[in-house]
This record gives sequence, structure tokens and C-alpha cells, in this order.
Amino acid sequence: MSEAPVVRFEVEDGIGVITVDNPPVNALGPGVREGIIESVDKGNADPNVKAMVLIGAGRSFIAGADIRQFGKPRPTLPRNSHDVLDQSAKPIVAAIHGFALGGGLEHALSSHYRLAVPSAKVGLPEVLIGVLPGGGGTQRLPRLIGPKAAMELIVSGRHVPAPEAKTLGIIDEIVDEKDLRGAAIRFAKSIAAKRPLPVVRNRTERLAEAKADPGMFEAMRKSIARRARNQKAPYHCIACVEAATTQPFDDGIQTERRLFAELENSEEARALRYAFFAEREVAKIPNAPKDLKPPKVKTAAVVGAGTMGGGIAMSFADFGIPVKVLEVSREVLDKGMQRVRDNYAVSVKRGSLTQAEMDKRLPLIQPVERYEDIADCDVVIEAVFERVDVKKDVFAKLDAVMKPGALLLTNSSAIDTDIMGGVTKRPQDVAGAHFFAPANVMKLYEVVKGTKTSIETIAGAMQVGRDIGKISAVAGTCDGFVANRSRAPFTTEMMLMLEEGALPEQVDKVMVDFGYPMGPFAVSDLSGLDIGYDTRKRRAAADPNYRKLPVPDRLVEMGRKGQKTGAGWYRYEKGDRTPHPDEVVKSVIADVAKEFGIPQRTFTDEEILRRLLLASVNEACKILEEGKAYRASDIDVMWLHGFGFPRYRGGLMFWADMNVGSKEVLRQIEEWHQRYGERWKPSALLKEIATAGGAFREAKPKKPM
Ligand code: 3HC
Repeated sequence: MSEAPVVRFEVEDGIGVITVDNPPVNALGPGVREGIIESVDKGNADPNVKAMVLIGAGRSFIAGADIRQFGKPRPTLPRNSHDVLDQSAKPIVAAIHGFALGGGLEHALSSHYRLAVPSAKVGLPEVLIGVLPGGGGTQRLPRLIGPKAAMELIVSGRHVPAPEAKTLGIIDEIVDEKDLRGAAIRFAKSIAAKRPLPVVRNRTERLAEAKADPGMFEAMRKSIARRARNQKAPYHCIACVEAATTQPFDDGIQTERRLFAELENSEEARALRYAFFAEREVAKIPNAPKDLKPPKVKTAAVVGAGTMGGGIAMSFADFGIPVKVLEVSREVLDKGMQRVRDNYAVSVKRGSLTQAEMDKRLPLIQPVERYEDIADCDVVIEAVFERVDVKKDVFAKLDAVMKPGALLLTNSSAIDTDIMGGVTKRPQDVAGAHFFAPANVMKLYEVVKGTKTSIETIAGAMQVGRDIGKISAVAGTCDGFVANRSRAPFTTEMMLMLEEGALPEQVDKVMVDFGYPMGPFAVSDLSGLDIGYDTRKRRAAADPNYRKLPVPDRLVEMGRKGQKTGAGWYRYEKGDRTPHPDEVVKSVIADVAKEFGIPQRTFTDEEILRRLLLASVNEACKILEEGKAYRASDIDVMWLHGFGFPRYRGGLMFWADMNVGSKEVLRQIEEWHQRYGERWKPSALLKEIATAGGAFREAKPKKPM
């Protein structure tokens, strides 16, 4: 059986319709460019054809080059599809629905006219995968909409909604959502005889803007300096747009090609490609039945109106889903609702939300006081005080009232999901829904699978996450689950290094230089030093071998709980969030080191980085060994979206593979195992990977979850 062609050519009413049909998103995979070239040739050769339409089958126009082909040798075609489009003797109309991204938009820019339905989105997001538009986008877009607007789009990589794209001048006309093909054919007929053809590469009038504002490129470089540190692609994007304003078109194309080639195999591009696919993998449930369809969640409930409960409720309202907030105490409920209102009001004041949006979202959050009031909701998320007895009580009540099939989720960050499942008669419907604070802001959302949780519940809980704009990742139930558990050794080591002579400001600088938006000590000041304090005390009481962390404990006992108390790891001036290194902290550290007789030494930046990240790599391997995560790359996704790990470094495991290598990781960990003892014991899986010379990012769990 021969495979269906990825590009079709049909003639309808004197118009040649070129349809790209390469599911799922019509990426420019093998055969697509060739098919477009062949079709344009056919259209030009056929006297019955007066004009042509380029359109996508299925859910999208063309989502861009096939990212899977990047970094691999690709055939060079004798003719370039962009040249073939813009040199066509007969006009070509690009008809856009879904997405026209990257190479997709570039093909539309090489066409003579562009139509789109209102819901379509266009953009040049190449920078987000560490490259730049390499099909003439950096040369054509500035000619069409001016260098400044083009540069903003190319450097941000954002998806532009069709109506905005029309205002910018990218789209010529917005057409009926339901009749793109018909509208495109009619449009093509209406312009078929018009000459000269509007060819974007020949336009120069908008380029003059750069003469009027020659500082725009430098200003752009300055404005991205912090965000784009350690990265090349955003700067190369600017250089290409600048070239569009200083070089003739063909020379500009050569510049674009040269800079694209420099980026394609760069470390940042490989990391970003990896992150792109890892984010798609994380959504997949291994061994799930093919026909598994998670129930559609139309109504939600949150039990508990604390900070977390309120944040979760806002997450639903932000995505237009009605949500009830249950709290049995009227006073706590009122306070919680006030907090929600205040949070929205702050966003309005800051300009990140309009008053109209706030007025639309607030009424979606309905405060209620009785369990019966939430009985018919499709999903309920418990977010009450983190105490086993309180949680058990809530789940017993939920079991009594909730309709059959409702998803019963717990936002516990530490308590075993099985305990909550165990008090119900439907443990298969119970799972963890672990949000990260602030819940309405943080993207990561861990779905915790209890021993008895069904695949349907997992799929449903994952879908809930996606419905409210989160990145959902599955974790098996264990202490800390996957994200926090893999991060915990990092936190321990950052504190212990202080005892040996490192300072918070040194550690923070290393991690900010590495690419984190903030250093870990500055983050700890923001979230509060008291957060881990009770847990540490509890653990120390339960386990005589527990390695205490006297430095943060003493700071908390001195009332230094972080920004909220004006001092923590740093000191703060009133009304200012700038951290200032503090002699008091230095002396607490020195006292502890002296008391425990810990020899003092200096740390290199490399040692600090390795010490923090390798401790977590080891833990991540233990997690996989115990089958608590589906795949290594899920852990990377969690680090990207939960902890601010720089995306252009791929994630924890990807970084370890690319920058250290599994053999060296093992050598280093064994050395620290000798020096520091049990907490650095290498995981069996880590040893196995290193011995085989394998990659952490490809590690498979040792047991099913
Ligand atoms: N190449 C290869 N595969 C792609 C792809 C691409 N450009 N875009 C999407 N896919 C795959 C995904 O991996 C996924 O595969 P899977 O089902 O096996 O996991 C499938 O298509 C569906 O993708 P999503 O789950 O992401 O679907 P959504 O509907 O949520 O999103 C989208 C659609 C907005 C198009 C999103 O997929 C996306 O952002 N894609 C990448 C777009 C992009 O970066 N384009 C530029 C490419 S670089 C380029 O064009 C260079 C040129 O200048 C030379």
C-alpha cells in the first residue's frame, strides 16, 4: 500500500489548491517542501489555473520545520520552496487556520497574499528552540511590518492572534472561521489578474524605519540582557533583523543561513529541543488504554480557603471554570475570599489583569459552607491544613457526599495519598494534585498516583491540570513525591556548604550565573526560612541519624524568617527587596562551624554547582529506581517548571549528561560518599548507568509505578 502524499494539488474553479496534509500539525517533514514546489510548478504549467491557494489539512496550516530533523543531516533541495513561491508567475494565497509558525509562517510570507480565520495564530517561535527563523523569516518579516515590530516578534517568539497580525500587516484579510477554503478560493479569483504581484522580498519602504531609529537594535540587546544571559539565539535573531536593514535581500538571506547554522547544534538549541519534546512526553501515561478518554471537568470544588486553596480556586476561575470553595468556618471563608479579591486587585493595579477580567473571574469562585453544596462537582481538591487526621476527616466526608465518578484529589505536599484513599470506599478515584505556591502562578502540577489510583483517575487529574494551563506530571507516592524529593538534597547541600566556608551570596551568585532567576538563598528568604523548620525538627526527633541543619535553625530561632521579617539569609532595608549580605549570618555560620569543629576552606564555583545539582541527580536516580516517576525527562520538566531551572540547559538530567557525563558523575559522588558519608551513597541505578556509559535522561524506571 502506497502512503498518502503529504501535499495534494487539485484544481477547483480555476484555482489550484495546494493542501499540505502531514498530521498532526503539518510540520515541514520529508516530502512537504518538495510537494509544495511540485504543486506550484503544476499550477504555473496548467493554463486552466489562474491563481493558487496554499492551505493545511486537519487542525493547522503549517506548524514549522520538523524539529525532529534538526541536528541531523538533511538533503538540500535543488530549488528553495520560498523562492519558488515568491517567483511564481501566478499569485499564491496562503490560507491560515490553527497555527502558522516558524517555517509555516515563512511559507506564508513567501506567498503573495495571506488570509486567516479569526482563531488562527502566527509567529516565528524559533528562538524558543534555540535557533532563528531560517527560511527567510528574518528578512521578509521586517520588510512587511517594519524592523521594530518584526524584531519584537522574532526575539520573543510569541504566537500572535490573527486579528493582531492583521493590524500589524502580516495578514491581509480575516475571513469566516467556517469557510476558509471557500473564502481563499474566492479571494484568489478576485486577485488572479492583478499585477504586479506583491512580493514581500521586493518591498523596502518599511526598512527606512531603521534609519529613523538606528539605536533600536542596541536598545533591544540591552532590554533582553538579563533574560537572555548565557544564550546566543536571541542575539543572532537581532543581528539578522539588523542585516535586513543594511544588506540587500540575498545577502541578508546568506547572513540568516550562516547564523542559523551556528545555532542549530549549539548546546542551547539541543537543550531547548529536548525540553520541547520532554514537555510533550510528560503528558503521556504509559500503558494507558488507547481509547482512554478522561471525563470533562465542568465544575470544580476546593476544600480549604487558605492561601493554597484560594490560589487553586483562582487557577480554575482564570480558565473560566466555575469553582466552589468550601470552608466550614464562615470567618476563615470570608478571609480566604478577601485574599482572593486582594490578589486579583494587585494584578489589576500592576496592569497584568484588566478590571473587566477580574469582574468576570471573581463570580466564578463561589464560597460555600456545607459539603452537600459541592456534591455534584466533577472534581474536588482538598487543600486543608497539612495534618493527617484533618485530611482523613475531609476524605471521609467527601466519600459520603460526592457524586460517583467525581475525582477526589488532595493537595497534600507530603502525606501519603494512600492514607486519604484508605478512608474512602473509592480509593481508585483518589489521587494527589500537588500544586506549587503560589498555585495560580506556578506552572507545575504533580499528579500523585496512590497504590490504588486508577488510570482513569490519573488521566482525569492530568486533564484537570491541562485545563487550567498547568504542566501536569505524574509522580508515585513517596516522601516529597518527585519534584520536591529530587530537590531536597540540593537544599540540604546548600546549607551544609555554608558550614564548610561557602557564603549565601557566593552560592546565589553561582546559581544566578548558571541561569536561575534568583539564587536559592534569596528564594528561601522569599518563601520563608520557617518553611522547613518544623519538618526538620520532626525528622530529627524521629531519626537519631538525621543530619541537622543548625545554621537555618538558628536563624529562624533568632526571628530571621526571611523577607517578611526584614532579615533571613540576607538583611533587607524597609520597603526594599534587595538582599544585602549580613555580618550576623556570617557569624552564625562561623559559630556553628567552630562548635562542630568543621574545617574551613574555599569553594570554586564549579564545586558549588556540582555539589548542589549532583546531589539531586543521585536522588532522581533513586526515584527512578523505585519506579516513582514514569521517565527521567519528567523530572527535568518538573525542574523547569517548578524550580526555575534554566530552560536552555534542558533540565537536571540533561545538564548532567551534557556537562558532566555519567561516569564523572559517579566518580564525583563516590568521592563525596567517602568524604561526607551515607547521604552521598550512589544510587544503584546511577552506578548502572555510569558503568554502561549511558545517559541519565534516557534512564528508565526500574519498577512500574
Ligand atoms: N516538528 C515536529 N513535531 C512537531 C512540531 C514540529 N515543528 N510541532 C509539533 N510537533 C508534534 C509534537 O511533538 C506532538 O507530537 P506527539 O503527539 O508525538 O507528542 C504533536 O506534534 C502535537 O503537538 P502538541 O502536542 O504540541 O500540539 P498542540 O496542539 O498543543 O500545539 C503547536 C501545537 C502550537 C503547533 C505546538 O506543537 C508547537 O509549538 N510546535 C512547535 C512550533 C515551532 O516551534 N515551529 C518552529 C519550528 S523551527 C522552524 O520552523 C525553522 C524554520 O525557520 C526553518
